[in-house]
Amino acid sequence: MAGAGTEEQLAQRLEELLSVERFSPPAAFTEQALIADDGVHAAAAADPAAWWAEQARALSWFQEPTVALDDSNPPFYKWFTDGTINASHVCVDRHVEAGNGDRVAFHWYGEEGEQRDVTYADLHRDVQRMAGALQARGIGRGDVVGIFLPMIPEVVVAMLACARIGAPHNVVFGGFSAESVRERMEFSDAKALITVDAARRKGKTAPVKASVDAVMGDLPALESIFVVRHTGEDTPMTEGRDIWMHEAMAAAPAEHEPEELPAEHPLFILYSSGSTAKPKGILHTTGGYLTGVAWTHKYVFDLKPEEDVWFCSADVGWITGHSYIVYGPLANGVTSVMYEGAPDYPHKGIWWELCEKSGATVFYTAPTAIRACMKWGPAHPAEFDLSRLRLLGTVGEPINPKAWLWYHEVIGGGRCPIVDTWWQTETAHIMITTLPGAQDAKPGIAGTPLPGIDAAVVDEDGNEVPRGSQGLLVLRRPWPGMLRTLYRDDDRYVDTYWSRLGPETYVVGDAAKMDDEGYVSVIGRIDDVLNVSGHRMSTAEIESAIVSHEVVAEAAVIGQADEDTGQSVAAFVILQGDLVGDDELEAAIREHVAVRIGKLARPKRIIWTDDLPKTRSGKIMRRLLRDIAEGRAVGDVTTLRDPAIMAQLQAQVSGDEG
Ligand code: WTA
Repeated sequence: MAGAGTEEQLAQRLEELLSVERFSPPAAFTEQALIADDGVHAAAAADPAAWWAEQARALSWFQEPTVALDDSNPPFYKWFTDGTINASHVCVDRHVEAGNGDRVAFHWYGEEGEQRDVTYADLHRDVQRMAGALQARGIGRGDVVGIFLPMIPEVVVAMLACARIGAPHNVVFGGFSAESVRERMEFSDAKALITVDAARRKGKTAPVKASVDAVMGDLPALESIFVVRHTGEDTPMTEGRDIWMHEAMAAAPAEHEPEELPAEHPLFILYSSGSTAKPKGILHTTGGYLTGVAWTHKYVFDLKPEEDVWFCSADVGWITGHSYIVYGPLANGVTSVMYEGAPDYPHKGIWWELCEKSGATVFYTAPTAIRACMKWGPAHPAEFDLSRLRLLGTVGEPINPKAWLWYHEVIGGGRCPIVDTWWQTETAHIMITTLPGAQDAKPGIAGTPLPGIDAAVVDEDGNEVPRGSQGLLVLRRPWPGMLRTLYRDDDRYVDTYWSRLGPETYVVGDAAKMDDEGYVSVIGRIDDVLNVSGHRMSTAEIESAIVSHEVVAEAAVIGQADEDTGQSVAAFVILQGDLVGDDELEAAIREHVAVRIGKLARPKRIIWTDDLPKTRSGKIMRRLLRDIAEGRAVGDVTTLRDPAIMAQLQAQVSGDEG
């Protein structure tokens, strides 16, 4: 389909399709679907906790739970409290025990064309050795282990090895700076860090261990740094603290029994941006998390482990990677594709080449990536055979109908249903979407709450707003994968999510609308959290990085609407004294942010200013800054301390562009 006709014909077809409001599941899909009618929603709603308990049986338990939900101390909900389990057993051992050790867990592809198939038996062998290696260094139940690794199979082994010994992992996305790694190790009191000699990105190699070393020296809790050999780079090793992972594994026993852990044992911490400068350590536990990711992975993506090849293009360092590259697919015994590199290296059709090579049947990515592919043009996917694809998914931000249709026509050949999945780091798994064999998809609208989930759109008092009106998205019923707290910060947990509408209503932080059929469209964040290319970032965190530059006096960061990335970072910057901003300073500030947080947080635009619009109590009015940056008429300014500043700012911004 992709190759059929010219780009003009495609554009015309997409234009025509814009008026189509709903796409029903194709008969060929429904006939084979795991769930082909939506009675499951009603069945789950009758007794949600019991329904989830039923789904939990799909895992392997040492001790099957008899309790489903413990809601005796809201908002500290617990699930399956008397069950015992181990995530690495669920994800690896039980498949080997069932005789599926030879099944490929990952078709791994390296940036330079390398290929490695990792079977479930391979994972079993390596996870046992790595678990032993960690224990030999005194790491055990409850000790936090940091993981800072690129997209190589070892990252999965490391996560599972931690799970096997009951050590919660704290994975840091490879695109973050060494400073960010240090900060996350410090906040979580990590006892060990697993990292790599160097990482490859678009044909270049950058040292990782050496740059981590440069900032890590002063952490008292951090006793060990394990280094995975990946590129073979010369790597500094500190005697007594650092150890090559392959040597540690060679010295460890071949066999290792997984720890029998309570269902509520912490599985991992994942730091995510909130509305203050300090990232939130979102804590997930074992039994409920696995129940939620396994169910949603299997049924939202209609996966049959014997036939399907699953390709999720996320990075393991984000929640999407945790839940839908590692735990969901492995719990379900599925074969996945894992790609080390960027979507445009070595060429702009690499994802489609890998789909063809691996025979991928289900593909999951972010709207921002689809918009990039649209820009690169349909000729790239047209070079490859995508005929095995049967289902597509998106996550991370609202998808505009045009990108949805392009994905549907060009990648899906017009025959693949699309699931637009809404969820968060906090929810751990998909919460709102369509079941592809049972429900119609509406381009640009995520879908209905999944079975067992109660989502609503409410006003400031928690009352449901009329259908079609905008309000706050809330979740009114505990679900198994929900975050349990913010690591060592119960107060912030309660304050962030439960203070607004009470301990029974989780406030998501997104604005949304619900239509007459209960389909939810998610509009965007209501707090000071940005969504750049589906990556969550905090305005406060970026501001604090900018202000830490020696020539900066003050900064205000906003998210500006951006055609490619959804939002982009724009910063209003006040310099010290009489300094005048120029290109050189702009580059220096961008680089400073890259070092402090990571490249993804760099402001796309810097606007020099002498003052900022503030309320009488000193709060920066970001709404007005957004109006200015996007060239809109400025809204209500009556609460400003000094309304004259708006005219001044506007003059500065237009001067900027002129
Ligand atoms: C946004 C990513 C619209 C939303 C899994 C949410 C979405 C935040 C969608 C969570 C979607 C995610 N439609 N918006 N399908 N999916 N979002 O924690 O604002 O990185 O609150 O989790 O992304 O981002 P996070």
